[in-house]
Amino acid sequence: MKIAILSKGRYLYSTQSLLKACQKRQIEVDILDYSRFRMCLQSGNNLLEYLNFSLDDLTGIIPRIGHPQTQISSYILDFFEQKNIVSTISSYGLLLSRDKFRSLMKLQFHHLPIPNSIFPEQYGSLIGVVEELGGYPVVLKTNGGTHGEGVFLIKNKRELQRQVQIFRSRNELFFLQEYIAESKGRDLRVFVVGGEVVAVMERKSAQGSFKANLHQGGTATAISIQTEIQEIAIKAAKIMGLSVAGVDILISKTGAKILEVNASPGLEGIEKATQIDVAGQIIEWMIPQMSTD
Ligand SMILES: Nc1ncnc2c1ncn2[C@@H]1O[C@H](COP(=O)(O)OP(=O)(O)O)[C@@H](O)[C@H]1O
Ligand SMILES: [Mg+2]
Repeated sequence: MKIAILSKGRYLYSTQSLLKACQKRQIEVDILDYSRFRMCLQSGNNLLEYLNFSLDDLTGIIPRIGHPQTQISSYILDFFEQKNIVSTISSYGLLLSRDKFRSLMKLQFHHLPIPNSIFPEQYGSLIGVVEELGGYPVVLKTNGGTHGEGVFLIKNKRELQRQVQIFRSRNELFFLQEYIAESKGRDLRVFVVGGEVVAVMERKSAQGSFKANLHQGGTATAISIQTEIQEIAIKAAKIMGLSVAGVDILISKTGAKILEVNASPGLEGIEKATQIDVAGQIIEWMIPQMSTD
């Protein structure tokens, strides 16, 4: 068995945690910088190359892909998929998870609960859209954001016009979503590995913010959740094509709503909050997948 962790940050907590989990189990492991792959397509042959490193004996990969590198990395994952190498995420799942509205569509088509969301007409007024979502405040999101950076709580028409104008001038896709006020800045990060929930944390936003992201100053604590919510998270990860996923869920007055499904969820917050060896769980899931017998 030989695992490659695809990561640009050798010393990042998540990368190190996965590395140690492999070493602890005496599994051969390497960290490969996914921006250094070369892909060659030549008559009847295709080659994936990584510096002077041989990829031939790899049995598994753990892609930890940063947002700016999503597309190129999905090509690399396609190569590995063609070779039937075990991966924690599929190429399709990576692309889908980085496309927020499309993910919500997919989840909704599979009857999973999501907040009401509207992708508006490209031009024209958004007043009717805000009304359909229950009026202000309303949540405005850029389609490809992360770490809470492209998520805005819009309180009036002026704020809406200002932010929409910014998105439109940058040709950035965006959509509107009902604001789940009763979640009070809390959300759940449900960590799914191989069809099971392995760890859950509740994140609470910092004072003055409605975003629970740890990158926005949110704090995390371990929490246990009902089987019903666990099942929603497990189903969401599966539909998204992700064997390892961080499912973000808000609790509304009508029940759980999935906000998004992350394909490279950070391990630091969840391992520290829950004291669960999530990296170890990921490797434990991979081992039987990689064995040939
Ligand atoms: N519709 C909503 N109602 C209430 N809070 C929300 C809503 N959407 C997002 N949030 C808050 O903002 C945070 C970031 O939103 P999310 O869609 O997960 O974007 P990102 O990918 O940037 O993390 C969530 O974790 C949650 O705390
Ligand atoms: Mg999120």
